[in-house]
Amino acid sequence: MFKRSDFPILKQKIKGRTLVYFDNSATAQKPSVVIKMVEEYYRQYNSNVHRSLNPLAEVVTKRYEEARDEVAEFINSQREEIIFTRGATEGINLVARTWGENNLKSGDIVVLSILEHHANIVPWLQLKEKLGIKISYIPLQEDGSLNMTAAKKLLSKKRVKLLAISQASNVLGILNPLKKLISWARQKNIVTLVDAAQSIAHVPVDVRDLNCDFLVFSGHKIWGPTGVGVLYGRRNILENMPPFLGGGDMIGAVYQDSFTINELPYKFEAGTPNIAGVIGLASAIRYIKKAGWKNIVVQEKKLSDYFMKKVGGLKFVKILGTAPAKFPVFAMVIDNIHPHDAADILGTEGIIMRAGNHCTQPLHDYLKVSATLRASLSFYNTTAEIDFFVKKLQELKKAFK
Ligand SMILES: Cc1ncc(COP(=O)(O)O)c(C=O)c1O
Repeated sequence: MFKRSDFPILKQKIKGRTLVYFDNSATAQKPSVVIKMVEEYYRQYNSNVHRSLNPLAEVVTKRYEEARDEVAEFINSQREEIIFTRGATEGINLVARTWGENNLKSGDIVVLSILEHHANIVPWLQLKEKLGIKISYIPLQEDGSLNMTAAKKLLSKKRVKLLAISQASNVLGILNPLKKLISWARQKNIVTLVDAAQSIAHVPVDVRDLNCDFLVFSGHKIWGPTGVGVLYGRRNILENMPPFLGGGDMIGAVYQDSFTINELPYKFEAGTPNIAGVIGLASAIRYIKKAGWKNIVVQEKKLSDYFMKKVGGLKFVKILGTAPAKFPVFAMVIDNIHPHDAADILGTEGIIMRAGNHCTQPLHDYLKVSATLRASLSFYNTTAEIDFFVKKLQELKKAFK
């Protein structure tokens, strides 16, 4: 089980106000065990990985590779299929630059959904410019869920080569039915990439069960350190991809005019990695295991239902995306109050939220709103915090009359 007190930052006062942290989709807070693990690395065994045989290097390499095992078990993959990256963004860019540049040609179609984060749009737009590929977007239904009829139609087009899609939106907080989409894609030999940057913090993610070819996520959204993430790739596909960056660790041998490539997963890990980040990520995963997915899911459902009832019940607030498979992530439009004003003023009350398009400008354009106010909760948030937020929203509404 978990305790709110596992997260030291939550005890803090912000300008005399109790911190209400409602920005977990941007980055989640860190439990003491993760902070301690990172500190321990720097205090006790800081050294480079895979480089030498001194006693410090032996410890650090062991911890680093144990972290890979931890991640592999966490998402049910083989250890060689786990590539450590800087985050979800880098993982998607790696796939676009290596698999994409080598397998896509002018006129090929990449299918995305309209609710993608910029991280899963821009790398494909860059390939559109470079290779002349086409991009199609799966539209939404009224309640924010994917339009599956349109999706099936798009995936049946002849030149579709890749489906790259998020398992959950960072704005609408709805779990997308990826197993179905991926099974349709596989029937057509379409390669699949899952952006699990958000879903990984709300549900167990299993790459074998999803049957996807690639999956990415970031450590900082699952209570781990920033600057570290994971790219999962199906082994036979990774083996046939060229390396991304060149440098130490990704090579077998280097000569004056040639080089050989290291085996998986090192082939994709050039240069000194974020060692503290990787070790901290493993610690975050162990924390999740102890907390128990079942407990996390139950608490988040309770928070989602309460938020929907309390905030959804306010006449002057509209929540975008109301389909049933909802995580506690809520993008809101408030009558006559700009989201940036709301976020600024609520911030002075200690309520930390984000306003803007949340790196989903195409989604906001599609929904015909320029910006939203987003509350994204985690299991350590409370119904009392939601009550406090409702009270402050009501005060705000009065002040803006
Ligand atoms: C759905 C989604 N994809 C990708 C990203 C990018 O993650 P990062 O900035 O950690 O690389 C985010 C970040 O908010 C996200 O919400």
